[in-house]
Amino acid sequence: MKLNRLERMVVRHPLRHWVQRSVEQPLLLRLFDNNIPPIHSALEIGCGFGQGIQLIRNGFGASRITAMDLDEEMLTYTAQRYSDSPWLQVVQADATRLPFDGAAFELVCDFAVFHHIPDWQAAVAEVFRVLKPGGAFVIEELYRAAICNPISKRLFEHPQQNRFNHAELKQCLEAVGFRVKKAQQLPGLAGITLAIKPAEQPLD
Ligand SMILES: C[S@@+](CC[C@H](N)C(=O)[O-])C[C@H]1O[C@@H](n2cnc3c(N)ncnc32)[C@H](O)[C@@H]1O
Repeated sequence: MKLNRLERMVVRHPLRHWVQRSVEQPLLLRLFDNNIPPIHSALEIGCGFGQGIQLIRNGFGASRITAMDLDEEMLTYTAQRYSDSPWLQVVQADATRLPFDGAAFELVCDFAVFHHIPDWQAAVAEVFRVLKPGGAFVIEELYRAAICNPISKRLFEHPQQNRFNHAELKQCLEAVGFRVKKAQQLPGLAGITLAIKPAEQPLD
C-alpha cells in the first residue's frame, strides 16, 4: 500500500532522518554484535526516498545494493539522489512477488515497510526465498498498536486487518524457517529483529 501525503512528508522530514541516524542506526548495527559478515549483495525492500541505503552501504558495508519499492515516484527520487552510485540498482516491484532469483542476497532489510503490506506473511516468505543460506534479514517494524489506533487511523493510511505484534512477527519468521537471532521490542509499538536463514536446511 502506498503512503498518503502526510506520511510521505514524515518519511522525508529532516527530523526523521536525524532519528534514523542517531537512534535507529546504532540499534540496528548493534543487532550484529560488531560482527557483520562480508556482504556482497544486499536488498532493501521498500526503500522509499532512499534513506536506508546509506546505512546498508556505510554501516553494513554492502558492496552492491538493490533497492526496490512499489512507488514509482519515490523510486525516481531515489534513482536521482544516487545517480552517481554504480553499486546501486533501483527496481520497481511488489515485496510479495520479488523479481529476483532464489538465494541472491546475503542481506535483506525492511525498514518500516511490512506494516504497509496487506499479505506481509507472503513478503516474509519471499525474503526467505531470495536470501542465501546463512543470510541475514534485518527488520525494523511498527506494530498493530502503533497503526491501529484512532490517531494513526485519522492521519495515515495503513491496512488494518492482519497486522502483527512483536511475538507474531517472530512466530511468522520461525514458521517460514528463519532463526531469530536477536530482537528488541521498543515499548509495544515497534521493534527491531535480526533473523538468519539457516545455512543448512532441515531434511524433510
Ligand atoms: C514508511 S515507508 C518507509 C520507507 C523507507 N524504508 C524508510 O525507512 O524511509 C514504507 C515504504 O514501503 C513501500 N511499500 C509499501 N508496500 C509495498 C510493497 N508491497 N512492496 C514494496 N514496497 C512497498 C512504500 O511505497 C514506502 O516507500
